[in-house]
Amino acid sequence: MQQVRKIIIDTDPGQDDAVAILLALASPELEVLGITAVAGNVPLGLTEKNARKICELAGRPDMKVHAGAGRPLVRDLVTAEHVHGKSGLDGPDLPEPEMPLMQAHAVDFIVETVMAHEPGTLTLCTLGPLTNIALALVREPRIAPRIGGIVMMGGGFFEGGNITPAAEFNIHVDPHAADVVFRSGVPIVMMPLDVTHKALATRARVDAFRELGTPVGLATAAMLSFSERFDKEKYGNEGGPLHDPCVIAYLLRPALFAGRTCNVSVETASELTMGMTVIDWWHVTKRPHNAQVMREIDDEGFFALLTERLGRL
Ligand code: RIB
Ligand code: CA
Repeated sequence: MQQVRKIIIDTDPGQDDAVAILLALASPELEVLGITAVAGNVPLGLTEKNARKICELAGRPDMKVHAGAGRPLVRDLVTAEHVHGKSGLDGPDLPEPEMPLMQAHAVDFIVETVMAHEPGTLTLCTLGPLTNIALALVREPRIAPRIGGIVMMGGGFFEGGNITPAAEFNIHVDPHAADVVFRSGVPIVMMPLDVTHKALATRARVDAFRELGTPVGLATAAMLSFSERFDKEKYGNEGGPLHDPCVIAYLLRPALFAGRTCNVSVETASELTMGMTVIDWWHVTKRPHNAQVMREIDDEGFFALLTERLGRL
């Protein structure tokens, strides 16, 4: 039996974050030690509430949800209500959460949990801006060599940006935090727009979630039907890209993805390209290879896994 992998999910729900959290909670290969909320798609007061709503939808009111940073390290917060709606989770009508928010700050929870586990046994799954992770690394540098790895949704290169022509939202919101993380030496697997734009929630795929007929399947279909309207108008695709669940799917079935290790550097100076991830895909520099950057996905296999697992909740 494959050993259960312990993870912390850092997130700014967001409909795609919600689907990623549901996938993780539906998968016995993973033990979610806690969920840490960060400001991003919507302000922190909503991302932490949305995280609790999703845990209750998944039947996990016992999950530890911690609130973290309410703003980026340096820049003012930029949110994305135009994509995710005012609540950040528009689409389904989910009840107000009854489960408690944990008292400890997310950064303290991350530091204490990493320090309490054997080195290399904990994976951080980041689905939003990297503010909490950067703060944890600065607060307690000893966690860097102890973190088994970071699997992140963020960045883009060949695909350009989605919040500016050059930058992807998670990195653009807090480029200084991303710079801290990419320089930390922690092993990183990166899911940039170059791969998530190939995971399109087409009409047939959203219908497959709805046809599960369960509260989770119906809510997932409602969430994706809401958030995809922005992407379809923008990209003209038949379906919005499903970004964040790629992080969890990688842990469950890494063979669904392909990429290469290279250097990723973050723009933190130019306003024109602020938050751009400069990926040295062709290895034209001698910069250290600090990330495994994914660029290909078996999208049929990805959605088959996602639908099967969500059907278990
Ligand atoms: O650019 C896509 C990313 O930004 C996703 O994580 C989405 O949830 C938003 O946070
Ligand atoms: Ca997100």
